[in-house]
Amino acid sequence: MSIMPNSLSATSNTKINGCINVPGDKSISHRAIIISSIAHGRTKIKGYLTSTDINATINACRAIGAHINEDIDSLVIDGNNLEQRHGDNAELNFGNSGTSMRLMMGVLSAQKFSSVLKGDESLTQRPMNRVMNPLLRMNADIKTSNGTPPVYINPVSFLKCVDHTIEIASAQIKSSIMLAGLYGESAFKIITPQSRNHTEIMLSEFGCNISVKADSIELVPGNLNTPNQIEIPGDISSAAFFIVGSIISRDSQIKINNVGLNPLRIGFIKILKMMGANIQISNERTINGELIGDIYTESSILNGIDIPKELISSSIDELPLIVLAASQANGKTSIRNAEELRVKESDRIFSMIRMMDKFRISTDEFPDGMNIYGGSIKGARVNSYGDHRIAMTALIASLVSDGDILVEDCKNIDTSFPTFIDIANNIGMDIQIND
Ligand code: S3P
Repeated sequence: MSIMPNSLSATSNTKINGCINVPGDKSISHRAIIISSIAHGRTKIKGYLTSTDINATINACRAIGAHINEDIDSLVIDGNNLEQRHGDNAELNFGNSGTSMRLMMGVLSAQKFSSVLKGDESLTQRPMNRVMNPLLRMNADIKTSNGTPPVYINPVSFLKCVDHTIEIASAQIKSSIMLAGLYGESAFKIITPQSRNHTEIMLSEFGCNISVKADSIELVPGNLNTPNQIEIPGDISSAAFFIVGSIISRDSQIKINNVGLNPLRIGFIKILKMMGANIQISNERTINGELIGDIYTESSILNGIDIPKELISSSIDELPLIVLAASQANGKTSIRNAEELRVKESDRIFSMIRMMDKFRISTDEFPDGMNIYGGSIKGARVNSYGDHRIAMTALIASLVSDGDILVEDCKNIDTSFPTFIDIANNIGMDIQIND
């Protein structure tokens, strides 16, 4: 795995051309590792993401007794068959990974040892009550530090399955509840707005009795059996950098093979198409319950739009890139109902407003989003606020800027996309290490 330098600079006004693969999907990798770790039998996970966020999940799963071997291009996991492990108090460091911490809160609540869950500076500011509160209703013993990490979990004699209504469209909240519920006794229901459904799909692959409707999930606890092998598709959220890069820059075209196309992840493709982007999808197929395909994109002329509310949850991680695309569109683009952006790895509304200011692009800020007015991007020095997606979005902006772009605080690119610079430079960008 690469050790990402602190600051990077990107030469302005380049173009990108080529056919690439992107690393495995981060969300699906987390789920494959956690669910294999608590299932019965040996699972081989092919195409998983190697990154610091995924390492956090691997470490936590080892703590609950799963045997995990890192083979050349796959992980081999011997699961513990929902054993509730006894042992010493564990201190687990989840680094930057909110997904690892929140999903593992569900699993760790069921163990017979106490745990302290810590994170880096960014994770230590992120809300954990949203996961703790439903788990408390299930009899878990959890404390947070004013709603944020460190999180303290103590063993309880049993977890009880209860029905939940969750107002936030969050895959992490519902997934934590589902994972905790596996250790309970009776069927339960979660009523919640739609969000990425990788946990539901992965649990089905492991034979779980789960039924999913548009706004609810019903799950009957029971042992999980390995399907022997899981193949992880390329991460659409990583592909998104080059999709947007090729659309906004001149004379560019890109094909990205074997990318996950889960309908609850491709909101940004729908948004870009509404703005006028030329995006074509081919070779669609389903592997381990997940839709996969190849994506072709090319330089396009974009027009500003009001982004429909119903596309926000399925594009949440790509909204910084939509802001960049909007800066290159004719007229105004409006993003609203996206208050969840405030509690990501950084406050992404603030981070993107600041970035656009530096680029001399006009914006209006709202509590739940922003307006962006199309213009031309000036070369600038920008800060990522320690946020991997903000750092990579700023580097992609160099494709259309009139001067070079220097991005500070890039280390966390390693959390999700350690090969980003290599891939970008192979297809025509010029990103260099600053220090
Ligand atoms: C994720 C869910 C989303 C997303 C995050 C990954 C997941 O967060 O933003 O990057 O893998 O479950 P929320 O569940 O908070 O919406």
